[in-house]
Amino acid sequence: MRHQVCIIGGGPSGLLLSLLLRRAGVDAVVLERRSRDYVLSRIRAGVLEQGLCDILREAGVGERMDREGFVHDGTIITAHGTTVHIDFKKLTGKSVMIYGQTEVTQDLYQALDRIDAPVFHEAEDVAIHDADGDAPYVTFRHDVQQHRIDCDYIAGCDGFHGVSRQSIPQAVRREYESVYPFGWLGILSETPPVADELVYSGHERGFALCSMRNANLSRHYLQVPLTDTVEQWSDEAFWTELKCRLPSHLAETLVTGPSIEKSIAPLRSFISEPMSWGRLYLAGDAAHIVPPTGAKGLNLAASDVYYLSRALIAKYAGEGQLLADYSATALARVWKASRFSWSMTRMMHQFPAEGAFLSRMQQAEVEYLANSPAAQTALAENYVGLPY
Ligand code: FAD
Ligand code: DHB
Repeated sequence: MRHQVCIIGGGPSGLLLSLLLRRAGVDAVVLERRSRDYVLSRIRAGVLEQGLCDILREAGVGERMDREGFVHDGTIITAHGTTVHIDFKKLTGKSVMIYGQTEVTQDLYQALDRIDAPVFHEAEDVAIHDADGDAPYVTFRHDVQQHRIDCDYIAGCDGFHGVSRQSIPQAVRREYESVYPFGWLGILSETPPVADELVYSGHERGFALCSMRNANLSRHYLQVPLTDTVEQWSDEAFWTELKCRLPSHLAETLVTGPSIEKSIAPLRSFISEPMSWGRLYLAGDAAHIVPPTGAKGLNLAASDVYYLSRALIAKYAGEGQLLADYSATALARVWKASRFSWSMTRMMHQFPAEGAFLSRMQQAEVEYLANSPAAQTALAENYVGLPY
């Protein structure tokens, strides 16, 4: 088989890249290790920056999002007895969209189906060959048969545990990592959200986040020790702990109910440089991971795909500079969003090993935020997303 671009990974990065390329006449194929149902069953991000919404619209997949998503003009941050309303719209002129990653992925699959774009699911043993030469190719197993795809370029969109990043020689790669000493326990429940906007709550028992998908679907998270397991957390224990970590006026109105999904995710900050090697280009979680506190993971994947799609399309039109600059361009935005996610995580969570000093610093930071329009603007500008 021959395709112009071979995309490894059928998560949001890979699917969006395939769609943008195909709409510009570039022939791309997607290889995904899991089944489509499995990919669509993963509950992940829920906050989309305006930049991502605009790309989805441009790719022709914004219609359901605009109909069913919820525009949020602000968020609530509460910690150490101080509650701050961050008014994104007033401070930056921008908003965010509440629309689940699962829905984005489903819309992308449907759009790819409509144009008969090839996606191989349950592709096993995907391997990259000769990415540093002029004739790269990818091999994989599918339906017990061995396949080979010859291509011009390979896009590594296969997430943190994929093969793409690992295919770059260690001598070329530089990895930066900070692992946090806790995870997030998340539940999805068919209950109304606790407030009209997301609530980020710092508490001495640990961080809590109240998010949502729609008027009767809530997504909540609790900071938990890394040693905790899902089995240890009954629904009742979850709700009791969440109530404890919210300001009393919100705890009193919290509606509880059975969870329909429950999972624990570890938190890390990770960036691998460079994001390209020869004819291999990394995008999304394959190259970087942010802690979820700033809602940046999916949004960063989207900005990578924005830069990479434009660079590949320009290259096929005879202009190679954007592709040559891709890694540097993408990384400049990645580092800034990582800084924001890291600082939100530091401000809101309990770090038991760091003692009372950090706790008082967090308190000072939230009080400063509450009283400084400049600090609120800086937070809002990062939360709604830095420009591409
Ligand atoms: P992924 O979504 O990881 O997609 C990569 C795809 O590649 C997967 O479908 C995988 O099956 C496939 N793949 C892997 N290896 C191979 C291989 N060898 N061959 C072929 N295919 C392969 N972000 C937020 O902003 N908010 C959140 O609440 C949030 N929660 C999260 C919870 C969890 C448990 C995780 C893991 C991430 C979460 N994120 C969150 C981050 C966000 O979901 C990711 O940043 C986003 O999914 C990145 O998209 P991606 O397409 O780059 O990677
Ligand atoms: C969600 C997740 C986040 O990490 C975040 O910061 C906001 C919302 C969510 O899943 O809805």
